[in-house]
Amino acid sequence: MHTINIGPIRVGGLLLPSNVLMAPLAGYTCYPFRMLAYELGAGLCFTEMCSANALKYEDRATNRLLITTSEEPVRAVQLLGGNPAVMERMAKSPFLEMFDIIDINMGCPVPNVFKSGEGSALMQDPKRAAAIIRGCKRSGKVVTVKCRVGIRENELFAAEFSRVCEDAGADMITIHGRSRSMMYDGEPHMEEIAHAKAAVSIPVIANGGIFSVEDAARMMRCTGADGIMVARCGLENPFIFGELTGKPCKKTALALLMEQMELTARYYDETFTLSYMKKLASYMMKKRKGTKRYKEQMYRSGSLDELREVIALIFADM
Ligand SMILES: Cc1cc2nc3c(=O)[nH]c(=O)nc-3n(C[C@H](O)[C@H](O)[C@H](O)COP(=O)(O)O)c2cc1C
Repeated sequence: MHTINIGPIRVGGLLLPSNVLMAPLAGYTCYPFRMLAYELGAGLCFTEMCSANALKYEDRATNRLLITTSEEPVRAVQLLGGNPAVMERMAKSPFLEMFDIIDINMGCPVPNVFKSGEGSALMQDPKRAAAIIRGCKRSGKVVTVKCRVGIRENELFAAEFSRVCEDAGADMITIHGRSRSMMYDGEPHMEEIAHAKAAVSIPVIANGGIFSVEDAARMMRCTGADGIMVARCGLENPFIFGELTGKPCKKTALALLMEQMELTARYYDETFTLSYMKKLASYMMKKRKGTKRYKEQMYRSGSLDELREVIALIFADM
């Protein structure tokens, strides 16, 4: 039996129904997926990272990342950028009018992002990181930060960095327990998250390597964090939110996927809907035996009808 402290959490002026968060995931956490995660028990979901620079130029692809409606229980956008003035301007812009929370990406390890002084590079530049938080706060919205435990393995500084964020006005900090050099693999440094939790009074959310209720319980226990954030597990098994929170769901995986397809087609074009649904179904079939043989057929589907048929075959008894 795992005792795990799941319940409501206060972030800034907002009261979230659960402290189990769904991570921002580029290519996945579009509006339909967030609605699914909320339905299954997630307390907070984020858009994928949106570049403040791209937004500034009213880039169409970036605007698509901002699709939301008033039906979304809490609307949180993740911004990526390294220039405090641009970040402040975008935070206050009409593009983000619908959003309650701005999360600042200070964890992205990708070389091009890092070289531009964005994402995890901000951890090396605490003054600029603080200026960005202060600027975004002037939008009047709740501002949160997502970072890592450090850049290199031999130099972890989650507690120090969390204090910088809190002093600048951040309302919550999510710490991915891996350093930049670890990218997405390896055991998260839970002790670093624990140090950060002890160093600040804003909520600290622990992320990294949670793939089961047991993992979540261990993460909470070892870090003392106020909540957890699941990422890839949310794609493989969206039911994890209900498993963690106890929120009941009687729907099958097939029913959820069919609803996802309908919702996606309502707000996005067919090309996006096909590509997103194939990626999501492919994650969700990872752990299901005997489904590999359908994978090629699924990827070949050229229309929503074809895709619906093959998804129905794959998830028939689930
Ligand atoms: C495909 C993919 C896309 C991601 N996109 C984002 C993103 O847009 N913003 C962000 O802060 N983190 C992003 N991440 C990192 C995740 O949010 C999370 O921190 C990381 O996957 C560790 O959690 P996990 O081990 O539970 O998957 C991404 C990760 C993956 C695998």
